[in-house]
Amino acid sequence: MRLPPARRMALEILRRTLDNHQDLQSAANDVLALCADGPDKGLATELAYGYLRLRGRIDFLLNQLFKRPAQTSPVVRRIVGLAAYELIFLDRIPEYASLDWAVSLVRARCDQTMGRVANGVLRNLLRLGRAVTQPDYYRYKTHDQVQFWSAWYSCPRWLVSLWLKHYGHDRARQFLEASIRAPHIGLRIHAGRPKAQAVLAELEPLTLERAGWGLAVREWSELADQAVRQGLASRQSLAAQKIMDALGVSRWPEPIWDACAGRGGKTLLMAEQGKQVWASDVSLFRLRQIQAEAQRLGCAVPVFLAQAQGLAPLRSAPRTIVLDVPCSGLGVLSRRPDTKWKRTAADCAQLAGLQKQILETAASVLPAGGALVYITCTMTRQENEDQIASFVQAYPQFRLLREIQPSLHEEDGEFFYGAILHKTTSPGSTLAGTIAHFREDNV
Ligand SMILES: C[S@@+](CC[C@H](N)C(=O)[O-])C[C@H]1O[C@@H](n2cnc3c(N)ncnc32)[C@H](O)[C@@H]1O
Repeated sequence: MRLPPARRMALEILRRTLDNHQDLQSAANDVLALCADGPDKGLATELAYGYLRLRGRIDFLLNQLFKRPAQTSPVVRRIVGLAAYELIFLDRIPEYASLDWAVSLVRARCDQTMGRVANGVLRNLLRLGRAVTQPDYYRYKTHDQVQFWSAWYSCPRWLVSLWLKHYGHDRARQFLEASIRAPHIGLRIHAGRPKAQAVLAELEPLTLERAGWGLAVREWSELADQAVRQGLASRQSLAAQKIMDALGVSRWPEPIWDACAGRGGKTLLMAEQGKQVWASDVSLFRLRQIQAEAQRLGCAVPVFLAQAQGLAPLRSAPRTIVLDVPCSGLGVLSRRPDTKWKRTAADCAQLAGLQKQILETAASVLPAGGALVYITCTMTRQENEDQIASFVQAYPQFRLLREIQPSLHEEDGEFFYGAILHKTTSPGSTLAGTIAHFREDNV
């Protein structure tokens, strides 16, 4: 059978990310790169991301609608689940179209009988009507709050329980609500460019929120695309920019070692502010992306391949170390919804162990008077406040200057944790004064 291209691409993205454990963004990039530009790419992206955001709710419904849910093959569940996503959440696709492609595909992959089962399940879903878009439907069919939230907010039970335990009812609900909303598009306008003000003004009608040179815009537009292509703006979530600002980036002493630089979102934010930054990461691929982007934007950023734990391959000491550490990524589920279906509690513990080692290395490399910046995009106490509390206890020469908790009023739907610490000359001493312009009241 000839599958409509958007569904073919969406299923391939899902296969790569769920079965082969490829990161969702890179799976989407790889699959979409093989296809011609056009509306199918937009629909494929919406289907793959939307399905992953709401997969828990869809699975809850499918468990009720399949006669033998546990025996149904994962392939069939995924095809029927994707069609269910279209039927429940996408008004612009006619119902017959969703049924047609899904039932034909199940028939082609399995047999006539399974095709009839898929058809029956999807038709019974349609009979439930708008009820399945309301929380009460799930509330009355579940036994307790964890199960209800897990179904309605499409989130694994272990994570719902963890957030309830660590953050309480209101914050946990806020995190869960944010995790199923599509995120806004974040842009960073390059302040140094002569046209920067004009770009801000042009994007004003599309802007939902602005913080300094950072914007959250409603949707991707020709204007935004043009600004990025002309090197006047970069894509970066507003929450990622705000955490840097909240931790006082403009006042961090230089040189700065960005030891988990990734694709360089934060590295380039610092470089654009005129900071001297060295960037390292364990991924050569990501370092090459930083180099290419730095060149395009006209910034000079030395990059090198290195682990942030163990021996630091530095010839001279930095005065600020930025650790945007590898973490469980549970604060950015709206942007990376595959994470919640892959992460386990054991991963969080393992990542916390790595973060501890990375912090220990930074503690030994940073000279007295320097600043240590720790950032995660997750929400587990183990990787955030507990990690920093244990660090300060083990290294009393570090004083916590500021800690930014994932905020209750976060409009962006993304949650970062950040802390900035100052290394004093001796345990318990006050500010060392070796870096005169870096003072507690500056941050
Ligand atoms: C949260 S991401 C960094 C995002 C980046 N700072 C940005 O703003 O775009 C964490 C990065 O840590 C890197 N990483 C993982 N393990 C590492 C290690 N042991 N040492 C250094 N970097 C590591 C990953 O490759 C990833 O790029």
